[in-house]
Amino acid sequence: MTSTAKIVIENQETELPIIIGSEKEIGIDISDLRSKTGAITLDIGYKNTGATKSDITYLDGELGILRHRGYAIEELAENATFLEVAYLLIKGELPNIAQLSEFETNISRHTIVNEDMKNIFNAWPTGSHPMGQLIAMISSLSSFYPESIEPNQSEDVKELNVYRLLAKMPTICSMIYKKGLGHPFIYPKNKLDYVSNFLNMSFKHVTEDYAIDPVMVDALNKLLILHADHEQNCSASTVRLVCSSNANLYASIGAGVAALWGPLHGGANQEVIEMLEKIKADGGDVTKWIDKAKDKNDPFRLMGFGHRVYKNFDPRAKIIKKACDEVLNKLGINDPTLEIAKKLEETALKDSYFIERKLFPNVDFYSGIIYRAMGFPVEMFTVLFALGRLPGWIAQFNEMRMQKQPIGRPRQIYSGYTLRPFVKRGDRKASAK
Ligand code: ACO
Repeated sequence: MTSTAKIVIENQETELPIIIGSEKEIGIDISDLRSKTGAITLDIGYKNTGATKSDITYLDGELGILRHRGYAIEELAENATFLEVAYLLIKGELPNIAQLSEFETNISRHTIVNEDMKNIFNAWPTGSHPMGQLIAMISSLSSFYPESIEPNQSEDVKELNVYRLLAKMPTICSMIYKKGLGHPFIYPKNKLDYVSNFLNMSFKHVTEDYAIDPVMVDALNKLLILHADHEQNCSASTVRLVCSSNANLYASIGAGVAALWGPLHGGANQEVIEMLEKIKADGGDVTKWIDKAKDKNDPFRLMGFGHRVYKNFDPRAKIIKKACDEVLNKLGINDPTLEIAKKLEETALKDSYFIERKLFPNVDFYSGIIYRAMGFPVEMFTVLFALGRLPGWIAQFNEMRMQKQPIGRPRQIYSGYTLRPFVKRGDRKASAK
């Protein structure tokens, strides 16, 4: 393989370096293209643009491969705890027993949020969407810990900010859930593990005991691992872009949460259940809804289907589908939407529209059914996604800072008016709009 690519613009040939990844992926380094030729590359939606080199996650969409720091997602989901995966993503290696114990202890020291944060919750009107609250709460941590704002902070302060964020995230997420119910907040219990602590803060009623169900702990542990990172997706790219301006960790991750909220990204898990409920209420005729999804004059899309990079199957969806069956069985829940989801999948996967476009169930297709079986309302689903994705965002932020990457600033091809003379107010005709 040659180490350069050639590009010819108006008979002028320019050579550009080729970069090969550790899994043999090929990239053409176009960073000097404009200075050499005056041309830029145009790639709307960054469908074919590598924005960074990264050591964190490897993904092959054609083969359905997902690995974090070299470890297969299937093995991590089967054998690891969520905090082990968080350690792996953030620090680069799996922890040994002593390292994991230190990591868990450091996190458990910071689980309480400042009492003043409760006042922010008082300001939200009843019915505020949990994701809007989460964005604000995470960003507000920079007000409670102003030392996080300084871009050139010591390694100790950097680490402290990471521990604080990992520790406070479950507390904040459960406070958002309790706010939705209008119930008092439950404080963290630091002798519990990360996932059990979150479930306790969410489901313990202030006046009653709450028995933590190991089935729920296992299922949530697995779901969080499956969401932990996904290389340069919309929210991770947002975190990196905001970080590139030297904005602080909390502001950058708050922005990532905002990007995640959209129904084309993490917000799809809420949309899937709402879609399945609609299909159920409509009589459960999946063919009718598949026809709607295929109709280009109908805005309806099959939510939880399709992916920018997976073009064969989403390995996370495979694991979640199996987990979904197991959890519902163990909890003794018979959810008719699971049957509708399976029928939808089966019918769509045989349909030429979905086959030709390589559309398969993604991570969001079955996850909502498990979240609902656990007792979470649909509005909380994307918050649970964010809880899982947090270590990935932190790893992406840290890598960006470590690599000292320049500020992200794409270019454009201007398609508006060329220069025209100013028209005085009284002489203007009404504009078309
Ligand atoms: N239902 C029906 N048709 C679809 C769907 C769908 N869910 N997804 C894609 N298509 C069709 C498009 O209409 C398009 O058809 P065309 O070629 O005839 O115009 C073709 O498949 C390609 O789709 P694009 O939108 O161009 O693909 P893109 O990579 O831009 O979008 C996305 C990917 C946003 C995930 C899309 O598949 C989608 O909207 N899915 C539903 C929302 C969803 O589940 N999002 C979660 C993704 S996973 C995650 O972010 C965690």
